Amino acid sequence: MALLNILNFPDPRLRTKAKQVVDFNDNIIKLTDNMFATMYAAPGIGLAATQVNVHQRIITIDTSEEKNQPLVVINPIIVEKEGEQAIDEGCLSLPGIYEPVKRFDKIRLKAQDKHGEFYELDADGLLSVCIQHEMDHLEGKLFVDYLSEMKRNRIRKKLAKALKV
Ligand code: NI
Repeated sequence: MALLNILNFPDPRLRTKAKQVVDFNDNIIKLTDNMFATMYAAPGIGLAATQVNVHQRIITIDTSEEKNQPLVVINPIIVEKEGEQAIDEGCLSLPGIYEPVKRFDKIRLKAQDKHGEFYELDADGLLSVCIQHEMDHLEGKLFVDYLSEMKRNRIRKKLAKALKV
């Protein structure tokens, strides 16, 4: 397993729209293994392939306390959504930045696992937020896009300073 380099905001590559996975081969398995290793090491609870400069619709998530419930989400679609919630979100591409974002409360997700098997999953709370946040990455969207221009500029300056040190 290898640790992958995570792109930081405002890297323009984070704005790439990811492509559907059609060929479920060993490279997909290897990539998800490396994404989990990278995500756990960071440490983080979710990682989109976009963040490691691979522009395919692949996400790894583990919101469990014990970090023993790895979830691979490939070609995700939200088929049902309900309610509203806003919790502080963070992102491995924006280290140290936390802001609340309005999201759906409950969602039903349809996706494929690393072998290409389809599954459906009902999620609420943190898992629901995490799935929605990571799915945004696949569209080239970041959680700071929901904030005001002024706030985003302040974050950009703060990160530029922090990442230079
Ligand atoms: Ni993120």
